[in-house]
Amino acid sequence: MKVIVLNDALEISKDAAEIIINQVNKKKDSVIGFATGASPVETYKRIIEAYERGDVSLKHITTFNLDEYVGLNRENVNSYFWFMKDNLFGKTDVDFDRVNFLSGLAEDTEAECERYSKRIRECGGIDLQILGIGTNGHIGFNEPGEKFADGPFAVKLTQSTIDSNKKYFEAVGDTMPEYALTMGIGDIMRAKKIILIATGASKAKAVKALVEGEVTAECPASILKLHSDVTVFLDNDSAALLGERK
Ligand code: PGA
Repeated sequence: MKVIVLNDALEISKDAAEIIINQVNKKKDSVIGFATGASPVETYKRIIEAYERGDVSLKHITTFNLDEYVGLNRENVNSYFWFMKDNLFGKTDVDFDRVNFLSGLAEDTEAECERYSKRIRECGGIDLQILGIGTNGHIGFNEPGEKFADGPFAVKLTQSTIDSNKKYFEAVGDTMPEYALTMGIGDIMRAKKIILIATGASKAKAVKALVEGEVTAECPASILKLHSDVTVFLDNDSAALLGERK
């Protein structure tokens, strides 16, 4: 695992965007796994800028997002589909026919998870996966627990995740869903290349567990140590506890 500590989110965004842009320029029909949340937003802005300059086209990429809330339709401003449309896809030439999401409205969630898993396999797997990390060490919505999940599944969100994300729902007078569908750890680990972005002091504990802790389902991100091509981008605040004695 390569750990890169930079000054702030802006510096991180430039380096992270460069990796994504290089991937797409090297292989126009790359399969990219996207993450939502605050962490990748600056990076997505750098990609939009590169697209506007004519330095990259996303026209031929296939996308898979990590997760989606159960019960939200695509037009809901808090759905992750809407997030991606608003923060990247709708501002570039991404072909929406190649955009893949777990459906939060699926009645049979097991069948929906199986469909998604199959679709990832049919597309040849994910070339580059972008990740954030939860304050509790989750990646996607793989919450801390007893074991790592392989494929996509329906998850009951932890209180820590609800506490972190409920502000977005409260802002529009909604209540945050308690359930989501998420890619499993196996789906993430099968990606050929992974970048993870973490900024801010609230991530420092999770980052320490990711970088210095043992591999345990209690910190789902810790499994990334077993992947051969992971780059972790940190700012000074999220890296603050690294190297400290326990
Ligand atoms: P954030 O979320 O980027 O909004 O901090 C990351 C996550 O929960 O995985």
